[in-house]
Amino acid sequence: MSKTIHTAQQYWDVRSELFANYYKKPSWFDKMFRKAVFVRTAVALNTIREFDHPTILDIGSGPGVNSVTWLKNSNASFLLGLDFAENMNEYARKNAAAEGVGDRCKFVQGDFFTYDFKGEKFTVAVAAGVVDYVKDTATFMKKMDAITTGAFVVSWPSNGLRMALRRYRYTTPVYHYNEADIRRLHEGLNIKSLEIMPMQGGRMSVARK
Ligand SMILES: C[S@@+](CC[C@H](N)C(=O)[O-])C[C@H]1O[C@@H](n2cnc3c(N)ncnc32)[C@H](O)[C@@H]1O
Repeated sequence: MSKTIHTAQQYWDVRSELFANYYKKPSWFDKMFRKAVFVRTAVALNTIREFDHPTILDIGSGPGVNSVTWLKNSNASFLLGLDFAENMNEYARKNAAAEGVGDRCKFVQGDFFTYDFKGEKFTVAVAAGVVDYVKDTATFMKKMDAITTGAFVVSWPSNGLRMALRRYRYTTPVYHYNEADIRRLHEGLNIKSLEIMPMQGGRMSVARK
């Protein structure tokens, strides 16, 4: 029997609590096999801390656990979380308020591809665990470049056993990238440097302007 396929929006809209608990109440499985979620939080935080009072765009902010970590551990003046799964945004708003940073952030519903930023730019944009679900990554990267002034940070899943398991378990399409793909996807962008770091199950990139 073939399995039902969902869009990434449908898939994530019913998983806010589940995803938040990867950080908040990690199981032994999460600790062993989902170490990457902590690495990507840390790489993005280090990049955010390179700037004084930066503004942050968290693309695909999900439950907003990362957003709170970045706000609490930097002097960022404002964070906009953008996610097309509204249940994720609702979780993120409550979580940010409970963690005492609700006044420095806003979580809005929208698809990054079509969302109108009305000319607003951000010092740092982060897409953590997002391009996994993006088909047209070239367009995604061009928009990330266009709306940032300082740096943009992306996590990139690679192919392998974990990706095969995700393809089997997930009911939404997932995509993977090798180092050459990552370099190619940064070609022609308005950046001064590109740093690529290995992590469990993939890589992180930091593009600086
Ligand atoms: C795996 S979760 C990661 C959440 C968060 N970034 C983190 O690392 O904890 C991926 C999130 O990206 C969102 N997403 C994926 N593609 C998106 C798009 N094109 N526009 C807005 N949100 C998107 C999903 O709804 C989901 O909440």
